[in-house]
Amino acid sequence: MLALHQVHKTFNTPQGVLPVLSGIDLTLQAGESLALMGESGSGKSTLLHLAAGLDVPDRGQIIFADHDLATLDEAERARLRRQQLGLVFQQFHLVPSLNVIDNLRLQARLANREDAKWSAHLVKRLGLSGRERYFPEQLSGGQQQRLAIGRALAVRPSLLLADEPTGNLDEQSADTVLELLLELVAETRCALLMVTHSARVAKPLNRVARLHRGQLQDAPT
Ligand SMILES: Nc1ncnc2c1ncn2[C@@H]1O[C@H](COP(=O)(O)OP(=O)(O)O)[C@@H](O)[C@H]1O
Ligand SMILES: [Mg+2]
Repeated sequence: MLALHQVHKTFNTPQGVLPVLSGIDLTLQAGESLALMGESGSGKSTLLHLAAGLDVPDRGQIIFADHDLATLDEAERARLRRQQLGLVFQQFHLVPSLNVIDNLRLQARLANREDAKWSAHLVKRLGLSGRERYFPEQLSGGQQQRLAIGRALAVRPSLLLADEPTGNLDEQSADTVLELLLELVAETRCALLMVTHSARVAKPLNRVARLHRGQLQDAPT
């Protein structure tokens, strides 16, 4: 499903070259869930961006859905992302001028994978029935993030990448959102790679890996 082989990534900064990832090996099987942990600045978001093909490694290989990302150009990577990948960030990144149902369908439309029945089912599962015509600003933070999760899953991706998806929510909304995320991931049988700094959030996932000084260490759940 997803495999990283000896992935290296540095950034050029005014202070010089900053090594962030120094030889990352990581494999995620179809349907498997992994929590990616590590202190702030350890490179978790960088790793996620590379896995999503939003950035390219200095060296090393990234295979996603049987494609070596290095062999694809930017347009092909974008196409693969639209068709096979769901992305959820700490900031919800909803389109403010689109209502709930249009936000939900937007990505699926772009990917030519619209499924009205599945969208309708998602609205119900997200707890947003009756709010289909609401705009994001009329929703609570938890509702907005549920919508962002629904949007990511509307295309039935094979992999969901989530970067601290509950980081902007109070503990109670975070729990509800996380529970829903895990239920929908199980329902769609997609794989999950979720960045979190919370051991509590990591616990229900199959595996935990920890980033430290550019290296990945398997850690107990
Ligand atoms: N585009 C960039 N240019 C320069 N430095 C960056 C860039 N993106 C991230 N970094 C740096 O790389 C390190 C890892 O960042 P990040 O992956 O966001 O960490 P995390 O998500 O684990 O908090 C940090 O020191 C950050 O400042
Ligand atoms: Mg981050």
